[in-house]
Amino acid sequence: MVYQLKILRGTGNVRFWQTFDSPCTCADSVARALEELNERTVLRDSAGQEAEPIAWECACLEKKCGACAMVIGGTPRLACATRLCEAADKGGCITLEPLKKFRRIRDLQVDRGEMFTALQEMELWLENDAELVEEERRALHYRAASCLMCGLCLEVCPNFSPGRTFAGAAAAAAAYRAFEPSAAGAHRETLRTQYRKRFFNDCAKSLACQDICPAQVPVEQLLVKTNAAAIWRRREKKHGAR
Ligand code: SF4
Ligand code: FES
Repeated sequence: MVYQLKILRGTGNVRFWQTFDSPCTCADSVARALEELNERTVLRDSAGQEAEPIAWECACLEKKCGACAMVIGGTPRLACATRLCEAADKGGCITLEPLKKFRRIRDLQVDRGEMFTALQEMELWLENDAELVEEERRALHYRAASCLMCGLCLEVCPNFSPGRTFAGAAAAAAAYRAFEPSAAGAHRETLRTQYRKRFFNDCAKSLACQDICPAQVPVEQLLVKTNAAAIWRRREKKHGAR
């Protein structure tokens, strides 16, 4: 089968579709097909028109950095972890669009700065050394740390929209680690306030984030435990139960 990449291109409000024939095969990734287009001395679309190289982001090419997140065949995915035959329609066409919840820079490249700023503002750091003695806690920390900061969870989240305070599943994964009880200190009150404001108050628990996550971050398990540490214990204290 001859595959075609149909790419939503442009900057700002300028948007247009451009289609390219690809010599790549079923087992090749979408990332490889994009690389092949940009390696050509002169890039031409399927109609023979000369075209600019495609703007998109990648770094590791092995599902480790999250940079290649985009909408592939209508589903938010990582380009380096999606094979052409998984994403193509019956005619071999694969549509590629930038993530829609972030500001578009050009073509498939977006600015995910809003997600990183939210994480910074939540002050998700430990003020003391953590002692992870329990095997279960250690394993969960490891899984929380596997978040790629790709932003795919925000793309599908019904509660996240640009410019609002809700920080989404990436923040919940980082918050679980910051609420490690063995590292508690005075900073915990700031963490609690931030967690409530930037996650707990607006999360409707659709868990679309967990279904889409390419790193299989166990979002539900993490937020249940973080809610217990950040919200309920505080409430118990307030009501004199602890
Ligand atoms: S939680 Fe999953 S989908 Fe969200 S940023 Fe982390 S790796 Fe990506
Ligand atoms: S390029 Fe790093 S995850 Fe795809």
